[in-house]
Amino acid sequence: MSDPKVLISEQTIAAKISELAQTISSDYAGVEDLVMVGVLKGSFIFLADLSRRLTIPRSVDFMALSTYGNATQTDGAVRMIMDLRRNIAGRHVLIVEDIVDTGYTISYLLRALATRHPASLKTCVLVHKPDRRKVPVQIDYLGFEIPDVWVVGFGLDWSERYRTLPYIGVVEPGD
Ligand code: PRP
Repeated sequence: MSDPKVLISEQTIAAKISELAQTISSDYAGVEDLVMVGVLKGSFIFLADLSRRLTIPRSVDFMALSTYGNATQTDGAVRMIMDLRRNIAGRHVLIVEDIVDTGYTISYLLRALATRHPASLKTCVLVHKPDRRKVPVQIDYLGFEIPDVWVVGFGLDWSERYRTLPYIGVVEPGD
């Protein structure tokens, strides 16, 4: 089987993450401990690269969520299966996501974390598929807008395959 066709190359992703890290470091200048919240599993590679390029004090924490039904026909019901380790009250929180598709996951997260009274709550998303979005979402830092194609790599999977591909590729139906 051939490798997925390149949509966004490794070099382009690296340059974009550096750019995002610079902007975020400057926006949060003076903040003592930014909490980066990674959403498992998809965000782990983006979070690893982004967090290492920041020049401000930061820590990482993780949440795991699950959508009811299958990935292509979600009705928006999201359930938390693993919560953060630390309290975020009074702290600056940045949610880090690999992809916003329908928007249900990030909108659930924003609502759930806002009830814990963080000092601020923002989002950083590597790829956004505007054509698939069903609910309005707040994306404060965005890597790339992409068309409605099935993407894999850089944390994104296709039935758990291709997550560790170093670029973002497209899987064609029938692959
Ligand atoms: C993916 C991705 C986001 C979510 C976005 O997770 O990591 O969390 O879907 O989709 P939405 O905007 O339609 O809610 P997935 O459920 O595939 O789990 P994974 O991260 O473990 O691959």
